[in-house]
Amino acid sequence: MENQEKQTNGQNGSNQQDKPILTTRQGHPVTDNQNIRTVGNRGPATMENYQFLEKMSHFDRERVPERVVHARGAGAHGVFEAYGTVGDEPIAKYTRAKLFQEKGKQTPVFVRFSTVGHGGHSPETLRDPRGFAVKFYTEDGNWDLVGNNLKIFFIRDALKFPDLIHSQKPDPVTNIQSGERIFDFIASTPESTHMATFLFSPWGIPANYRQMQGSGVNTYKWVNADGEAVLVKYHWEPLQGIRNLTQAEAQDIQGKNFNHATQDLFEAIKEGNYPQWELLVQIMSDDEHPELDFDPLDDTKLWPREQFPWLPVGKMTLNRNPENYFAEVEQAAFGTGVLVDGLDFSDDKMLQGRTFSYSDTQRYRVGANYLQLPINAPKTHVATNQRDGQMAYRQDILPGTNPHINYEPSILGGYKEAPKVAKDHTPRYEANLVRQKIDRTNDFKQAGDTYRNFEDWEREDLITNLVNTLATCDKRIQDKMIEHFTLADEDYGRRVAEGLKNTTKSMDDKGPNGAISPKAGV
Ligand code: HEM
Repeated sequence: MENQEKQTNGQNGSNQQDKPILTTRQGHPVTDNQNIRTVGNRGPATMENYQFLEKMSHFDRERVPERVVHARGAGAHGVFEAYGTVGDEPIAKYTRAKLFQEKGKQTPVFVRFSTVGHGGHSPETLRDPRGFAVKFYTEDGNWDLVGNNLKIFFIRDALKFPDLIHSQKPDPVTNIQSGERIFDFIASTPESTHMATFLFSPWGIPANYRQMQGSGVNTYKWVNADGEAVLVKYHWEPLQGIRNLTQAEAQDIQGKNFNHATQDLFEAIKEGNYPQWELLVQIMSDDEHPELDFDPLDDTKLWPREQFPWLPVGKMTLNRNPENYFAEVEQAAFGTGVLVDGLDFSDDKMLQGRTFSYSDTQRYRVGANYLQLPINAPKTHVATNQRDGQMAYRQDILPGTNPHINYEPSILGGYKEAPKVAKDHTPRYEANLVRQKIDRTNDFKQAGDTYRNFEDWEREDLITNLVNTLATCDKRIQDKMIEHFTLADEDYGRRVAEGLKNTTKSMDDKGPNGAISPKAGV
């Protein structure tokens, strides 16, 4: 943020802190900010009205496109402190990533929490997964862990993501979100039964951002100094405890305050009540695990905690609010491709699809040089031959070389490749190129386990929310959903079916969140 401070408190004598004079962006003092220049005091206005044209044309460009998903968010700065171990073992056994190695080592972070489906100023009480994206500014460059509060997802193939999101966004004609469209997709996508079970329970409305978990959801790899890999899943556990809302509680809050989660986070940090999360991982050996009834790369599945314990690796504290929401939170750009040495991708098809999508959308949403913005730039050495483009202000050129070298390789100079520090992880592949589902789809078992593991009040709320929304749906969608819930757990299917039988047509005015009129106009 240094550059910005320089700009606002700049050398211009008329712009000092003790005498804060308004200027144009060209530094011209503004002597009248109430009246445009006109011919006589009743107009017309003149075309050379530079001060007015500047002000208005900049205002006309104040918005950049919202994130296509996760548009509504709040952010905070903080620090991650490593334990140096994973559970009882030295962490170096599994990963050589520098940020984890030493006990007490601190790495600055920026976190953005979000809801997913609705626009930039939508209520924070809506039933929706919550985003939990963390940027670690490590000595080896940035690492982004782009997660959600829920530990699983609706789909396991990235090709389906635009359809999933379209079904959850407003109807393209009425511009109203529709429970029928949401469940039309879910009923046609059996692997989403597990996610729907979490989402329509109180876990689908965390009470605020401080009291929710986070999860990387997709499976990643850790690589050690010998180039050996293991599969890992990441989880954030809030030290403030976990709190979720029933639909009725959420509606009560929404009637009074639709910014409650942003406000809660901002005020807690302002008051010095810094929220903290422990980072834990689950580890599996890097293979297909035929002994399991699910595929470790399938993000619609939990890795059972009894078999794959959650092992602590460090703690994060959020201790500083952003000073400029747009510069720090809106323009922040996270992506699953942003890994450091010692962390790697797994073959998870969703993860690989996501990895294309993030930087692609950010080049469009923020601009080709989004990585030069202070919030996104690494806090370490950056020296690249990539250059120019809109709003480029840094040019990395090694000083003192003549001619100037902005290419590699070169005999004359310029930047050189970094030395290899450890063995590469080089997995071997041999298979046919296909378009195929994974083998162990097992779409319903874990949905049933999750249903049975809920407390009574959570199951109650789940059934009520499902019935209220499914009541607005076509009978074929209802029947398919009852079939899927029954395959998960007989009691689950029976209660939804009974609820629907007892529900009259008057439920037609209840939306996916008990909100108003999803069917209007359809
Ligand atoms: C944001 C794509 C799955 C978590 C986004 C954005 C896109 C996107 C385009 C907007 C990014 C921006 O404008 O900066 C996808 C695709 C997915 C997928 C194509 C599947 C193939 C997931 C999953 C998770 C997730 C499974 C949870 C682990 C997030 C979060 C954000 C986000 C937290 C907001 C980041 C921020 O705060 O800026 N995603 N996503 N996404 N996604 Fe995904």
